[in-house]
Parts: sequence; structure tokens; C-alpha cells
Amino acid sequence: MANVQSIEKKFRELFNENPLILRSPGRVNIIGEHTDYNMGFVLPGAIDKAIYFAIAPRTDNKCFLYAYDINDNYEFSIDDVKRSDKNWANYLIGIVDQLNKNEYKINGFNCVFGGDIPIGAGLSSSAAIEAGLAYALNYIFDLKIDKLDLVKLSQKSENEFVGVKCGIMDQYINIFGEENKVLKIDCRSLEYEYIPFEFKNISIVLFNTGVSHSLASSEYNQRRKECKEGVQIIQKDFPDTQSLRDVTLEMIYDYKNKMPEKIFNRCKYVVEENNRLLKACDALKKKDLPTVGNLMYQTHEGLSKDYEVSCKELDFLVELTKNEDRIFGARMMGGGFGGCTINLIEKNDVNDICNFFAERYKRKFGIELKYYITSINKGTSFIKVYEDATI
Ligand code: GLA
Repeated sequence: MANVQSIEKKFRELFNENPLILRSPGRVNIIGEHTDYNMGFVLPGAIDKAIYFAIAPRTDNKCFLYAYDINDNYEFSIDDVKRSDKNWANYLIGIVDQLNKNEYKINGFNCVFGGDIPIGAGLSSSAAIEAGLAYALNYIFDLKIDKLDLVKLSQKSENEFVGVKCGIMDQYINIFGEENKVLKIDCRSLEYEYIPFEFKNISIVLFNTGVSHSLASSEYNQRRKECKEGVQIIQKDFPDTQSLRDVTLEMIYDYKNKMPEKIFNRCKYVVEENNRLLKACDALKKKDLPTVGNLMYQTHEGLSKDYEVSCKELDFLVELTKNEDRIFGARMMGGGFGGCTINLIEKNDVNDICNFFAERYKRKFGIELKYYITSINKGTSFIKVYEDATI
């Protein structure tokens, strides 16, 4: 796996010049799942796992991309931007496509990237690649794009070029993350607030199910549609309703018999999740972890039963935590159908618990359980800036 030194070394080997070096992290989300595209709230934090970039401008229009972790490369020209059959490259080409569409003037560039965010684990390696490149190009070509516009551009690139209709959370936290703080984002107004997340005796542990179902992206888009369908039903009586954010729990229950049961369950989950997130923020400010943990369990229940985006592996890992009073809270995290659970665990007991979970998981599913003990870190930032690596 790549680290910052290996990325810089490879870049120098290939291009023999000084690059700009930057770090673009993955993320966790404490609570607020499947709420971002419903204009609700989310509470993510950037983590210590990251993608590193070494990048420098060229004088022509050629873009040379080298993916260190898979030892593959791709070349294209900024005047001829099209989808590649190398899927990894599309996350990067999409950013150039967005810059072109918004008439930002760039040259070609040389870029080596790689890192230690596990792929397909739901820790947003894709947003790290997109937003990291957008951040780097903004600097080396002096484009003067502000941080929020970088976020929007990166999300749009994923929506339009990669073709995943994700919400704004992952790109937002990637750019705005701060050490030991989680970010409450209001996905309707795009306002945000930092909330300290600093507990000396607590570790954030991610258990990786090791499964990523092919259903994930089609079911994700399906959930978006189902929520929209719920909004359209309510809009008939309340034309001002733009999204589930404008809907209260009382309203939803009034519609219980006026919408299909599945749509009701999806909408109820989203409205409840926004309410839970607000309670979790209050509890965090009071350093009341048992309440935060309890809300996380409720979220998991909702995601599993009402929103139906969990799977047996995720449910098993969350269920197992319920016998442990050294674990404050656990739930599936991210889009679902695999990926990781997020767990708040007493620091002293982490190793014990991880070994025990690994043994139980192996026995049940025959899969080695990978786990990551992580912490809340800074968002995308420069590691080394050589003046000649800009234009
Ligand atoms: C994925 C998407 C996010 C968000 C989560 C679910 O990570 O990229 O925008 O919708 O799923 O909360």
C-alpha cells in the first residue's frame, strides 16, 4: 500500500521534477445516513486513512495519471475528455471534465496517486480521489475556486461522469474536515458547524464485512427514487414541500395510509434520522456518549428494517456488540449492502474486542475480519509545496 514517501518517489522516478504533494482523507459518519440527498443533516469526520497525490503541471495538454496501488496508468488530453474503460481513471477524468465545462483554464499535468483507504469498504476513497484532484488542480493552476465550489464540482463529477448519484456528504467532509472535530452539515442550506469529538478513552473502530454487494449502486438510486415518490405524494397537499427535510414525523404518520407501505417506511426512516442526528449533536456537546451510542443503534435498526440497506454480515456485527458494555454504539455506515460498521469502543479493550469479533466473524461467514482503529483528522491539505510545481 502506498504512503506519502512512495508516492513522491514514484513521481520523481517517472517525471524527474518537483511535485506538489497532498493528502486527501477518507471519512466516517457518526450518524445521519441516507439523509444528504434528502436535504437533511449528516455528521461525518475525515479520518487518518488517505489518498496521497504527487502532481505537477505540464506545458502541453496531456494528462498522465499513474495509479500506484494497482500499477496502472492512463493518458488523455484535456481537449479530448471522454470516459475510459479503466474505471479508476474516470474519477479523475470527471474532474477535468467539470473544469472544462465551467470554463476554467488548465494545462495538462502529471499525477501519481495512491494510499491506504481500503477500496469498497464505504470509507469514500472515490470522494478522496475526486476532491483531492480538484483541490490540487485548483492550486497548481491558480483557479481561485472556493472550498464549497470545489465540493460541488467534485460531487457533480461523480454524479455526471462516474454516474453515481451520491449526495454531497463525502466530498464536503473531504475538503472541510478538521482534526478531532466532526462536521454537522445541513445539506439543504449547505451551512455547517464543527462539533468537538475528542474522547481520550474512546476509539472509533471500523469492522469491514469484506463484502460489497453489486446491488449497492442500483439500490442506492432506487432509495433516492422512493424518497422522491414520498415527497411527490405529500406535495399534492403541501405544494411547498421540496424534500423530506420539510416533512415532520406527524405529517408522515398522517400519510401512512395514503402511500405504499414501502414508501412510508423509507420516508419515516429519513425523518426520524434527521431528528436523531440533532439529538446526537446535543449529546456530543455534553460529552454524553451513552446517548450517542443509543441513537446509533436506533439508526442501524431503521437502516436495516425500514430503509432496507443492510445485509446479514452488517447485522451480525452490530448484533454482536450488544453483549458488550465496553461498546457505546455501533451501526452500519455509508450506502450499505456491505462495507463497514462504525463502533465507539473503550480504548483499553479495543484489541480484546477486535480479536473476539474476528474469531466470531470467521466462524460465522468464513471471512477474515479486517478492522481499522481510526481517529478524526484534517481534511484535504498540502504536505509539501514546491514553488516550481505550480504554474
Ligand atoms: C454514500 C454516498 C453519500 C451518502 C451515503 C449514505 O456514501 O456517497 O452521499 O448518501 O452513501 O448516507
